[in-house]
Amino acid sequence: MEFDKYADSYSEDLKNSIPAGLRTIEYFSTYKVKLARQLAGNKPKCILDFGCGVGQCSQYLVRDFAGSQIFGFDVSEESLAIARERLPQASFSAEWNEIANRKYDLIFTSNVFHHIDPQDHILWLGRLKDQLNPDGCLVIFEHNPVNPLTRMVFRRCIFDQDAVMIGQANFLKLAKAAGFNKRASKYTLFFPGPLKVLAPLERFIGWLPLGAQYYLALKSD
Ligand SMILES: C[S@@+](CC[C@H](N)C(=O)[O-])C[C@H]1O[C@@H](n2cnc3c(N)ncnc32)[C@H](O)[C@@H]1O
Repeated sequence: MEFDKYADSYSEDLKNSIPAGLRTIEYFSTYKVKLARQLAGNKPKCILDFGCGVGQCSQYLVRDFAGSQIFGFDVSEESLAIARERLPQASFSAEWNEIANRKYDLIFTSNVFHHIDPQDHILWLGRLKDQLNPDGCLVIFEHNPVNPLTRMVFRRCIFDQDAVMIGQANFLKLAKAAGFNKRASKYTLFFPGPLKVLAPLERFIGWLPLGAQYYLALKSD
């Protein structure tokens, strides 16, 4: 699997793609998990990090959802080996059948779909939909292709070379085609490091297509 070769250097490669002073990878991951907490509503008991890689976001899911069961799925076994070592309290698998044994209250996925062959987007969205509990929520974070800084980081990132960003409007069409209903969709991560004092303004401008990323919160009913 493609990400096997990046497993050992994943965090370093990601750091190197972000110019100094913008934001740290820890900032991005903690921010997304915090947003997912707000979007998930009632305390989710069972959480899946879809495309968890080496556990960069899973570590904050474990930390911020104390008492919840955390599972991670990825197609890269080498990445999962690192995630398992890092987070023995969570369960990781590359076997979809194992993951599909249970239902989840929250499925979290960060920067994964642009690495999936576009022909398989609906297939994977359908699989995720099947694994959601009736009140469950799928929270997707993706790059915003319109943001110039995102485009720059994307170009610099060694493991994004073959990836194709998906705009928010297109992702909403995919979600609809897969049978999801929208709970929320917003642009996010507007303010790089030097403008961080403005971060509280973000909740008023989620409609503005200039954030570095966007999120979709989807439900299956
Ligand atoms: C850029 S990394 C993101 C990792 C992690 N979510 C994060 O935010 O750091 C993309 C991950 O998606 C995984 N991936 C690619 N295709 C996948 C698929 N069909 N199912 C699950 N994971 C997949 C890759 O193996 C890789 O670990």
